[in-house]
Amino acid sequence: MAQRRAFFSLFILLAVAGVHGDSTMKTMEKFSGYPPESDDAGDLGSLSFSVDNNSLERQIDELAGFSDTSAPSVTRIIYSKNDILARRYIKNLMGISGLSVREDAVGNIFGRWEGSHPELAPVATGSHIDAIPYSGKYDGVVGVLGALEAINALKRSGFQPKRSLDVIMFTSEEPTRFGISCLGSRLMAGDEALAQLLLGTVDSHNISFIEAARSAGYMMGQQELSSVFLDHGSYSSFVELHIEQGPILEEEGLSIGIVTAIAAPASIKVDFEGNGGHAGAVLMPSRNDAGLAAAELALAVEKHVLESGSLDTVGTVGIIELHPGAVNSIPSKSHIEIDTRDIDEERRNAVVEKIHQSAVKISKARGVKLLGFHIVNQDPPALAAESIIAAMSVASKQLNLSSKRMISRAYHDSLFVARISPMGMIFIPCYKGYSHKPEEYASIENISNGVKVLALTLAKLSHS
Ligand code: GLV
Ligand code: MN
Ligand code: MN
Repeated sequence: MAQRRAFFSLFILLAVAGVHGDSTMKTMEKFSGYPPESDDAGDLGSLSFSVDNNSLERQIDELAGFSDTSAPSVTRIIYSKNDILARRYIKNLMGISGLSVREDAVGNIFGRWEGSHPELAPVATGSHIDAIPYSGKYDGVVGVLGALEAINALKRSGFQPKRSLDVIMFTSEEPTRFGISCLGSRLMAGDEALAQLLLGTVDSHNISFIEAARSAGYMMGQQELSSVFLDHGSYSSFVELHIEQGPILEEEGLSIGIVTAIAAPASIKVDFEGNGGHAGAVLMPSRNDAGLAAAELALAVEKHVLESGSLDTVGTVGIIELHPGAVNSIPSKSHIEIDTRDIDEERRNAVVEKIHQSAVKISKARGVKLLGFHIVNQDPPALAAESIIAAMSVASKQLNLSSKRMISRAYHDSLFVARISPMGMIFIPCYKGYSHKPEEYASIENISNGVKVLALTLAKLSHS
């Protein structure tokens, strides 16, 4: 009975979307029979719900414990022991939330709350829990644990979804071990070329992707990578909650960022080979230094990015490896990895092309071989769906939370889910915009606001 009342109340809420009646402040007990034991409540129109901040904060800390480096940093690499333990932790929480859990061949994890109309395409939410070396504990995690708490809050409120709700934990959003970003979501979106590539991909210890997946309990038996692909329309909508990873919300004193688009990322691997030799005996005119070729290319990346004339163009050289790596040996080989992004795809492509021209020019000038110039990915940007932007905006207003529309300069699994489903993202402020370093921090109050907006948005989308 309680659930039926909540269900009809939601319809009223949807019918008067944007109208927020204070007189509808109902207690949680009235609808669900649960005492309001948590410390933060949000009014979902006629449907009251609360976020359990204490549990959520504890879970974020517990998950951070599954790390290859010690606190405050977090390092969690795909299919490592800590990644496997963290996955177990998430599956356990999904079970506690009463979700039915399934995993696909690469370990994307799905927890489903079945709706009253399971024949309709479900609504999904989620993010990743893997972490680059020495990063923080909120990137991605807020979108997985926060999604589970959004589901718990809706369940406690007595809300009944019409479309099923899926919480997804994506495998390896970070390009750590196999150099491929958003591995799970790219595959989910049906990337045939990636499925082919992964069959021959190895990590820096020469462990193949397939072997690593098997050691984590995936890709068993005759499982094919193509079994991960989902059809277009498998979901009616997808919403990801994430820390902003930039300073705007905090600087402007806003609670919620409503993402309208995700910038276009590209990543490139370059290898040079020179002659190497003795650091004392080989005179400067006789050298073909592969290390200096890499250094020169790194500076060229910065130059080309700045030449674009737009602050939206960025470029980073995050990896330079020299062989043999001895102080008294001229590098005979170098390996460099470049990340460049822009909200303007053509401008980003022009930078990639200029980097290529520079690599060719530098190799000629220095007499080193350009062994490889490999564009790992060169993705288009993605636009959020108007319908989801509207649902997130209305939800923020109904919750009396200040918000602004913004673009995401970081990439996310949403960039690829957008290929098969309408997509939207909710950002929350993080301290000074810090991310990908141990100082990353988001307050539980801000996280809780994001969870509330997510819960209300999911509730709306599930009945749309
Ligand atoms: C995501 O981790 C990114 O690098 O944008
Ligand atoms: Mn990240
Ligand atoms: Mn992330």
